[in-house]
Amino acid sequence: MNIRKAVIPAAGFGTRFLPASKALPKEMLNVVDKPLIQYCVEEAAGSGLDKIGIVTSRGKAVLEDHFDRCPELEALLEEKGQVDLLEEVRRVQGLAEITAIRQPQALGLGHAILMGETFVAGEPFAALTPDDIYDCETPCTRQLVEVFLEKQATVIVLGRVDREGTKKYGIVKPKPLSDRIFRILDMAEKPGPEKAFSDLGILGRYVFTPEIFDDIRETPPDGRGEIQITDAIRLHLRSRPVYGLLFEGRRFDCGDKFGYLEATVRLALKRPEFRDRFRSLLESALND
Ligand code: UTP
Repeated sequence: MNIRKAVIPAAGFGTRFLPASKALPKEMLNVVDKPLIQYCVEEAAGSGLDKIGIVTSRGKAVLEDHFDRCPELEALLEEKGQVDLLEEVRRVQGLAEITAIRQPQALGLGHAILMGETFVAGEPFAALTPDDIYDCETPCTRQLVEVFLEKQATVIVLGRVDREGTKKYGIVKPKPLSDRIFRILDMAEKPGPEKAFSDLGILGRYVFTPEIFDDIRETPPDGRGEIQITDAIRLHLRSRPVYGLLFEGRRFDCGDKFGYLEATVRLALKRPEFRDRFRSLLESALND
């Protein structure tokens, strides 16, 4: 079965990014010249997923507005002859069919994904966290979709994490099937270095079969009252195979202030129009 749909949970509080994220959704933070949510929607669309459900909450309607048509703006750009900007605005609006989904309370990533059940309507689907930017030759979600098409089972993205990383991510117990593909035998949410099964962390990209929704419903909340997707996948793998893919490319954790700075610097350096001037700026700033 093919995949057409993606769920993008964007209803959290973004506490690691306060105070910037108090009134402005974290997912609208700008990296170089576009907001985090746009990187994510572009990745999903570039992976062949043209129906996207964005999970939002109170005060986050701006996330939907970013992809909505704005006839007044289009008319203004047309009148001024700003053709390139007009084309760019229209390109963003046409990336995918966007559906807004509401999460009434921030009860965790697993719960946010559950809110997408009606939108998903019994199909396999991808889930992407928008605070991660993936910079990959083949879009990260596309890499997962390729494995899904072969296995017809849930696939999660894996990346190597350091000792500290085991306190931040879900960590898997993997059985290698090839260099990059693993059968997942077990997993734990933020186990810490002593209890970690491996150094392979789950990093915010998933392709699920729709049975995951039953497993999320059965998942009890954690100590903070949140339903974690890692706990739900752990239930899922009792009855169904789950695979992990060590992705090819680079990931930036933009939910974290330092990761966000790294994304800004590296992605700006990759842009031909900024590269030389930005490099000189960094060199001169380092000598201050
Ligand atoms: P995070 O845990 O990184 O986001 O969830 P957060 O909770 O907003 O941020 P911190 O940890 O307090 O700084 C990853 C993605 O899942 C969404 C977030 O909006 C983020 O894009 N999310 C998280 C939800 O949609 N609902 C939730 O209940 C929790």
